[in-house]
Amino acid sequence: MKTDSKTVCELRDVTYVYPGEASGRVPGGASGQEPPEASGAVSTGRRPALSGVTLRVQEGEWLALLGSNGSGKSTLAKHLNALLTPTQGDCTVFGLSTKDLNNVFAIRSAVSMVFQNPENQIVGTVVEEDAAFGPENQGLPTEEIVLRVENALRAAGLLAKRKKPTYTLSGGEKQRLAVAGALAMDTPCLVLDEPTAMLDPQGRRELLDVLRSLHEGGKTIVSITHRLEEILRCDRAVVLVEGRIAWEGSIPGLFAHSDSFRKWGLDAPPLVSLWKELRAETDLPLPEIPTLTAMTDSLCRLL
Ligand SMILES: Nc1ncnc2c1ncn2[C@@H]1O[C@H](COP(=O)(O)OP(=O)(O)O)[C@@H](O)[C@H]1O
Ligand SMILES: [Mg+2]
Repeated sequence: MKTDSKTVCELRDVTYVYPGEASGRVPGGASGQEPPEASGAVSTGRRPALSGVTLRVQEGEWLALLGSNGSGKSTLAKHLNALLTPTQGDCTVFGLSTKDLNNVFAIRSAVSMVFQNPENQIVGTVVEEDAAFGPENQGLPTEEIVLRVENALRAAGLLAKRKKPTYTLSGGEKQRLAVAGALAMDTPCLVLDEPTAMLDPQGRRELLDVLRSLHEGGKTIVSITHRLEEILRCDRAVVLVEGRIAWEGSIPGLFAHSDSFRKWGLDAPPLVSLWKELRAETDLPLPEIPTLTAMTDSLCRLL
């Protein structure tokens, strides 16, 4: 990440209460737009989905958004391209408020989203038609669409399958097609909400490889996951617990706080557990981040 980089998305003290969560609790008629204190969402034991979240996504960074189920990851992600707008506080994308309807087109041209279920994101019957859906809706000239689709399918490793029916793709390929669709929109920022959730290990690896090369190419990426093994290449991590930011910092910094993983609701994969135990119980020289390669190198040096 460049140090002088621009801010792509910014949340300032954002609280979000789902409409209906507070219904019937506010004198004079509740609405989801009431401040949570006034709506009684807290006092009735129902917490806002996000509470006082302040966060900046910088141009070119790969940010990992972590947290257990229900911690508010998807709610936060949907703020980044104006699918949701703050109940309290402000969210801007390249300085444009997501609350102003006039900004929504520009915001969605800056931030595209990929969701967790690849099946729900495919609209075309042929691979290249599907990837063309976004740019066609943007009303671009045909030559531009063809070029973008070709580049997007190449980046997602699907160029060879461009003429194939979408139903013939594997789960991993379908999810890469969803990424290609988002890439064809040519937005500077890509937000992925648990994109590997439905994939097998092979599909996961393939998708992470695509993200890695997009990151190297300068794309701003926000990836949401609860799998620690998927964030090893990210620049920064943010941990959400019950709608609040519990921790943020570098990836080595996150692993230095591995004692808090349980409290944060993060499952440590076996490699991370081994790394943690070796760190606690031995003086072995261990890597800062427990990648498979770094751990293998460290342990092989002992032989
Ligand atoms: N459409 C919705 N209506 C009401 N509450 C919701 C809705 N979607 C999510 N929530 C609630 O908001 C909180 C945060 O959910 P979510 O952002 O989906 O978390 P995550 O993506 O981390 O699993 C949870 O308590 C969840 O039950
Ligand atoms: Mg979610």
